[in-house]
Amino acid sequence: MKLWGGRFSKSTDSMVDDFNSSIRFDQRLYKEDILGSIAHVSMLGKQNIIPQEDAEIIKKELKAILQDIEDGKIEFDIEAEDIHMNIEKILISRIGDTGKKLHTGRSRNDQVALDMRMYVKKEIKEIQSLILKLQSVLIKLSKEHAETIMPGYTHLQRAQPITLAHHLMAYFEMFKRDIERLNDTYKRTNILPLGSGALAATTYPLDRYAVAKDLGFSDVTFNSLDGVSDRDYCIELLNNLSLIMMHLSRFSEEIILWSSHEFHFIELDDAYSTGSSIMPQKKNPDIAELVRGKTGRVYGDLMSLLTTMKSLPLAYNKDMQEDKEVVFDAIDTVKMCLPIFTSMIETMKVLKDNMYNAAGVGFTNATDAADYLVKKGLPFRDAHEIIGKLVLYCIQHNTSLEKLSLEEYKQLSPAFDEDIFKAISLEECVNKRKIIGGPAKEMVLQHIQKAEEYINSI
Ligand code: ARG
Repeated sequence: MKLWGGRFSKSTDSMVDDFNSSIRFDQRLYKEDILGSIAHVSMLGKQNIIPQEDAEIIKKELKAILQDIEDGKIEFDIEAEDIHMNIEKILISRIGDTGKKLHTGRSRNDQVALDMRMYVKKEIKEIQSLILKLQSVLIKLSKEHAETIMPGYTHLQRAQPITLAHHLMAYFEMFKRDIERLNDTYKRTNILPLGSGALAATTYPLDRYAVAKDLGFSDVTFNSLDGVSDRDYCIELLNNLSLIMMHLSRFSEEIILWSSHEFHFIELDDAYSTGSSIMPQKKNPDIAELVRGKTGRVYGDLMSLLTTMKSLPLAYNKDMQEDKEVVFDAIDTVKMCLPIFTSMIETMKVLKDNMYNAAGVGFTNATDAADYLVKKGLPFRDAHEIIGKLVLYCIQHNTSLEKLSLEEYKQLSPAFDEDIFKAISLEECVNKRKIIGGPAKEMVLQHIQKAEEYINSI
């Protein structure tokens, strides 16, 4: 017998039960559902909407059901459709008519809205702590590599020398924004929808603020139609998760490039690489590739929910049940990717010499050579032109700027002096860039210090 069976004279087709039911995937909301029900029923008792003793009996049994679910003693029933009705059905089967009072002044529409918000709140915190762990590893590696010179790129062409620490701390900033975006979404998720009823609230004198306080919400929703039909916070979350994945994916792409023979900047630990079933020599960066691949999947989750929501009239529509699988999938994916990615970079071997040598090839110090002439009084455009000619000369003579003789320099400009060689050394190129945000060791160390303060303040 369905909990809503009164109006029906025939039972549903079994295909309909399968199709309609969400218990397969929404059973993971069991805890939120029960805690929400406990808060609701406590308030019903306190407000004398139902007798206090009944509220106590229901509360006690809900706690027992929670325990039984956690002990694996409960089997959910597809016919009971979703987690909300499964739990209510179990409750009624155990305590009879008293159990039927739980749903007073409530609809599954505001109930599911509550459960999802509680769940999203919990997951935001967990994801933030996983990001923090990744950031700590970035800081640790950056401290070790504040002097590890490597080429910085634009257009994937060697551009100017930087350090590995500078490069890694760029990702620190991205993940910091991800944490902040999650904080922001958290604020809008942290609003209690219970009390919105099916769509038009309720006639019972519910104390919504008491329930909000009990469940740790900072406020209550102010329009019952919006309360049951808002999924913006889910979309915001998916957007945040997409950006996290985008950052992980860009980083993965670099790990993949860096571990190739062409770059050979790093070597992944054996524990975080895989082999080939045919080519005995292969060591593949599968983990990074999968993180990059799974990014598409999370974007898909975002697009899916945006599309589901786009034309829904107010208020609740069953389409919204489709929010669960995409939100769960994106959360699971991000929670799987973050720790494995963190361990992968923590254990990788950095091939410092290769990075250094790569920075020394490809004229990454050409800008500094031009800046040298500017400091000797030439306008930047003229300096640019002269160094451009020198680079061409080097290419034609298969040499590099630091290997030219002073005479060769002087042929292009009398402004060159012996000190040009120091000015274009990779160390100078990096360490002279000591404005805020620059790669100079002292600036990166300052950034790292701020980053540590940030992490410790959370
Ligand atoms: N399983 C449903 C969902 O996830 C719960 C709400 C159902 N409400 C309803 N009126 N059918 O959206």
